[in-house]
Amino acid sequence: MKYTYFGHASFLVEVQKKKILFDPFISYNELAKHIDINNIAADYIFVSHGHVDHIADCVAIAKRTGAKVVTNWEIHDWLQKQGIENTHPMNIGGKWTFDFGTVKCVIAQHSSSLPDGSYGGNPMGFIFTTANGNFYYSGDTSLTLDMQLIPTWVDLDFAILPIGSNFTMDVDDAINASVFVQTNKIIGVHYNTFGFIKIDTEDAINRFNNAGKTLLLPAIGETISL
Ligand code: NI
Ligand code: MN
Repeated sequence: MKYTYFGHASFLVEVQKKKILFDPFISYNELAKHIDINNIAADYIFVSHGHVDHIADCVAIAKRTGAKVVTNWEIHDWLQKQGIENTHPMNIGGKWTFDFGTVKCVIAQHSSSLPDGSYGGNPMGFIFTTANGNFYYSGDTSLTLDMQLIPTWVDLDFAILPIGSNFTMDVDDAINASVFVQTNKIIGVHYNTFGFIKIDTEDAINRFNNAGKTLLLPAIGETISL
């Protein structure tokens, strides 16, 4: 599986030859000015919740690529009104098998409203089960006991977790989350983009190491193999 980081909580996973983009907030991110969204290919776009720092580039990329946007009912409805027809609505607890594998939606303890103030439904995380490996993207969330259910459903190869605090889990809670979901490989997102979530990344990596876990923080634009 290949993972490309586009800054903040946006990344692209290549699985079963499909390009799956998550939470596109790229052209509005000062740290991602070297990424041109017109060069991003996508077969799918997964949107965890309606906040602008997760959906800002979704309509533009979905229109250009024709990618199928997978998100909750309310965001699906909103995207349809923006002229995006290729959407797949889901909701918490639901599961669907796509051509790259199966996705289960799980609770994220956060909030969700759309950039124009529309109701955004409930925020979600996603669990991917594929022939190339299994992973969990929590979306923006606090640490929650519900995460303990995840290893009863799937054996994870890695998890993508926010580590920036203020709006989401901090490093120590993300370490606990990785204990709950039973994985030792974590990719950090949702840090350093703006003042509220600036962190000491070296300290974060050390804290994960001390817990017997590996925190991966690829550079914006970097692709890693997992
Ligand atoms: Ni958010
Ligand atoms: Mn966010």
